[in-house]
Amino acid sequence: MSESNESTPAARAIEALATSMQESFETHRRILSFPDFLEQVAEHPRRFSRSAAQYVLDALDHFGTSTLERGGQDVRRWSCFDAPFDGGRDKVVGNEAIQAEVIRHLRNFEREGRINRLLLLHGPNGSAKSSLVSCMMRALEAFSHADEGAIYRFNWIFPSSATEGGRIGFEKRGAESEERLDSFAYLEEGRIDARLAGEYNDNPLFLLPTEQRVAFLEERLAAAGETGFVLSDTIRHGQLGHRSRQVFEALLSSCRGDLRAVLRHVQVERFFISRRYREAAVTVEPQLRVDAAVRQLTADRSLAALPSALQNQTLFEVFGPLAEGNRGIIEYNDMLKRPMDANKYLLSTSEKGTVSLDTGILQLDAVLMATANETYLEAFKQQPDWSSYKGRIELVRMPYLLDYRAEEQIYDDLLEALALDKPVAPHTTHVLALWAVLTRLRRPAADGLDDAIRGVVADLQPLRKALLYADADLPAGLNGEQQNKLRAAIPDLAQKGAEGPHYEGRYGASPREMKQLLLSTAHGEGETLSPVRLLEALRHFIRDVSVYEWLRIEPDGSYHQPAAFIDQVREHYLDRVMREAREATGLVDEDEYLRVFQRYVQHAKHWLSGEKIDEPGSRASVPADERMLEEVEQALGREEEARSFRSGLIHRVAAFRIDHPDDEVELARIFPAFVDRLREDYYARKALEVKRQVEALLAITDRQDERAAEALDRGQREQADRMLECLCSRFGYVEATAREAMALLFQERLSELG
Ligand SMILES: Nc1ncnc2c1ncn2[C@@H]1O[C@H](COP(=O)(O)OP(=O)(O)O)[C@@H](O)[C@H]1O
Ligand SMILES: [Mg+2]
Repeated sequence: MSESNESTPAARAIEALATSMQESFETHRRILSFPDFLEQVAEHPRRFSRSAAQYVLDALDHFGTSTLERGGQDVRRWSCFDAPFDGGRDKVVGNEAIQAEVIRHLRNFEREGRINRLLLLHGPNGSAKSSLVSCMMRALEAFSHADEGAIYRFNWIFPSSATEGGRIGFEKRGAESEERLDSFAYLEEGRIDARLAGEYNDNPLFLLPTEQRVAFLEERLAAAGETGFVLSDTIRHGQLGHRSRQVFEALLSSCRGDLRAVLRHVQVERFFISRRYREAAVTVEPQLRVDAAVRQLTADRSLAALPSALQNQTLFEVFGPLAEGNRGIIEYNDMLKRPMDANKYLLSTSEKGTVSLDTGILQLDAVLMATANETYLEAFKQQPDWSSYKGRIELVRMPYLLDYRAEEQIYDDLLEALALDKPVAPHTTHVLALWAVLTRLRRPAADGLDDAIRGVVADLQPLRKALLYADADLPAGLNGEQQNKLRAAIPDLAQKGAEGPHYEGRYGASPREMKQLLLSTAHGEGETLSPVRLLEALRHFIRDVSVYEWLRIEPDGSYHQPAAFIDQVREHYLDRVMREAREATGLVDEDEYLRVFQRYVQHAKHWLSGEKIDEPGSRASVPADERMLEEVEQALGREEEARSFRSGLIHRVAAFRIDHPDDEVELARIFPAFVDRLREDYYARKALEVKRQVEALLAITDRQDERAAEALDRGQREQADRMLECLCSRFGYVEATAREAMALLFQERLSELG
């Protein structure tokens, strides 16, 4: 490279890259001699004596866990399913229970010291089965680049005769140079005549005879205080693959039994798990028929350079996903779409971890995972073979999500990745997620539940059930006891819904279909993407019931009613918009009606006792405010006469204090129905004012016709500006989406008022 070239930006970039590659190559110890490898093992015995199950567990734990709330319950989430290693791309949302189940099975394998079952994720189409496995594989890929995830295999190195002074290998010419090298592992390429890869990522520890290997590891593990670590069967009894065994034996005999001389030919190589290069993370597609096969190594230059002792041996190579996937995860995608013959070998492989090949037994150390759609599994369970497979498969059910908050995240992530060139109105993904979840719910079974809540559950509407599942948001009008019992019963409800072949989340809109619908709506006409447009698209989507089986499910009460759900979600959406409009007008103070109720209770108490009351801000104590008591009781819909109504109420407060001596007296908790009524009454009285402000907002945002805006006085215009500003700053609207939402609200909820 000429003088001038070295200073060019490209040259400098390559220089910097070359230096950092070199450094990382050294720091990451990419190549080791066998003795140096053993040093590493001595230093980190646990890291290098993990089975595939233990390695996968460490990889999943490596990204940590977090606790989050789902349906009022704390659940643990493995952060690797947030795909932190890929900036969150293609993360798997929700499914914490399934994550825990998969990890529990892996821990069982770890405890048992062997992988003796295949994990089969089954569920409806599009429930993230493949996404979950892919996330695990990507976690493995990222983990294998971390120090804690260093994983090694080995090659056989045969130095060039120059290095050994004549034919390489075993002829003892120029012994002096040979003696100097206690390993050929670090030889430059030019001094290596032949390199023979070890087979299927075999663990270099297999080069040590089992007895000495186990003794060494146990001693090092004890020294490292790794008392709980289970040394797996594969590490205890694992043997070299057929070809490596051939090479080992040939070398051993030509080195007259000198293991050190044999190990000089070993180059331990760090490898990185990769789905792209099919290294210890491999997916077997349904169309594939041969998962492992043997072929004779073709006589190429490097083979010709092999030492004579190997020249007369027929060397074979095992190829196929089983060989490539060893030491990591092998996934059978849609396993039951394959002809069962193609899976037959799994009967023994999943149990014993061995595959019989022409040249011998392939010994596998890999986590076997598979995915299958429910219909295929159901058909498979009818087959005579099922009973023999059953004992070798761990079924992990993966239904669609039933938590609309988690579902919403799927669509939020999609829109974020999409970077749409039009504004997305608030609640767009909420509306889609909620509707999708409603299509998956089953009518709750109330039998066996506590008397206090059996009726409530039997009458539970789909929307309420969805809000209960996600937010433990209880239906209105329940008393304290019912509230506590229903909140406590949420896991039972979910458990009951999960029972039987038609479990909750087996049927309904799949995220794949909903993502498609969101995309097409987003790219459809209209200057915004909004709940209104989505609801329209859903109405269109459900028209052709022949397309999706779940659209033909018989309604069960108010359940399995996709069309009705569109209306219910629409009303729910309008409730949200109404809440935002109220808050954005600043007319409505969320706690105002609670303050009114507190004052009511205080005055009712003093009215009953006839005592005067000290009102804050009033100098003298005053008699109870009877007009206010009457007004509030009108809103509460009092039917009985005032005294018994008021004393009944005060008694309930007293009873609450006795039952909950340590709790703060929360009127909303004791009188939920009353508070709901007061809230509605409060809003209804404010509704006219809200209507006027929404009208003004529509006037100032009407870009077609300015006349309405001109008709506003300054006060009204300023108020409308403030409302718009609040909708944008607090609720995420922009002018176009605020106008759209307020126009719908006006049309549906306000225009009739006054
Ligand atoms: N819980 C989820 N989290 C994130 N994406 C999901 C989830 N469920 C489904 N999806 C999306 O739906 C589509 C189908 O998922 P996939 O993993 O292929 O399903 P399966 O293998 O169960 O048929 C993918 O685009 C995926 O991103
Ligand atoms: Mg799949």
